[in-house]
Amino acid sequence: MEHPIDINNKVILITGAFGLIGKTISVAFLKQGAKVVLADINDALGQQLRSELEAEFSADSFLFQHLDITSEGSCARAVADTVNTFGRLDVLVNNAAIDAKFDKGGSEKVNQSRFEFYPVDLLRKSVEVNLTGTVIMTQQACRQMLAQGGGNIVNVASTYSMVAPNQSLYDFGEGVKNFKPIDYIASKSFIPNFTRYVATFYAKEGIRCNAIVPHAIFNNHDEAFTQNFAKLSPMGRMCDRQELVGPFLFLASEASSYMTGSVLTVDGGWTAW
Ligand SMILES: NC(=O)c1ccc[n+]([C@@H]2O[C@H](COP(=O)([O-])OP(=O)(O)OC[C@H]3O[C@@H](n4cnc5c(N)ncnc54)[C@H](O)[C@@H]3O)[C@@H](O)[C@H]2O)c1
Repeated sequence: MEHPIDINNKVILITGAFGLIGKTISVAFLKQGAKVVLADINDALGQQLRSELEAEFSADSFLFQHLDITSEGSCARAVADTVNTFGRLDVLVNNAAIDAKFDKGGSEKVNQSRFEFYPVDLLRKSVEVNLTGTVIMTQQACRQMLAQGGGNIVNVASTYSMVAPNQSLYDFGEGVKNFKPIDYIASKSFIPNFTRYVATFYAKEGIRCNAIVPHAIFNNHDEAFTQNFAKLSPMGRMCDRQELVGPFLFLASEASSYMTGSVLTVDGGWTAW
């Protein structure tokens, strides 16, 4: 039996769909003929995306869904609306997360506290979304996937799920010390082992679960950041968002049918040394 990279007519729900990666992947899935549910908490971000998609794709190929992954009711509704609209849920992409970023497009400012003074409330907030929210969304999807006889889950991890941040990446020589904070590292470290948990729990029940590890997607970062990055990265450059498309299509399709519990690293070699 052949296992092509083919997602035509697959029903895919992607969380955090209005963000940098979510939008890129949603558009790529639509171009490949998938039915896509774009789910996100930030409705305002979705407005422009909606008109872009309406101009390019047929209206019956996508659904915009308000979703808060920290709410069981909201996640259950997203799954129910997916099934009511498209008949099933083939693939869940757990992409939503909060992450205070250093790029100009980032919506949240990074808290500059050193580790020993980092506000625990910010840690609790990140755990609530990035860890607990991912579990809640996955539970709801698994109920539907079991009922329909199978499914596929793609979790979005980070290199900070695997290794500590090299804090010199965030030293821009401005006299102010910047740090990548613990909340993101703590909450994203959970993703690879959660992936293995779900994968082995459901391996005989037709649900696969794998993770993808993106790293440093270029989003109008400052010159200081890109120069620091170039020195530290084996490939010496940041990731173009389109370079994630192939790996996502691979995991979402039957081309990866014998993969479950695996972590696919797409990081320009960052974790290789
Ligand atoms: N951008 C990168 O360089 C990079 C690198 C490694 C990993 N990642 C991971 O990729 C994923 C997407 O990151 P991104 O860069 O596109 O971030 P982003 O901030 O652009 O997008 C995240 C989206 O998640 C949504 N969201 C936040 N809380 C939510 C909630 N409670 N319920 C539903 N949606 C919610 C936001 O509204 C936003 O649209 C994240 O899991 C992130 O950890 C990103």
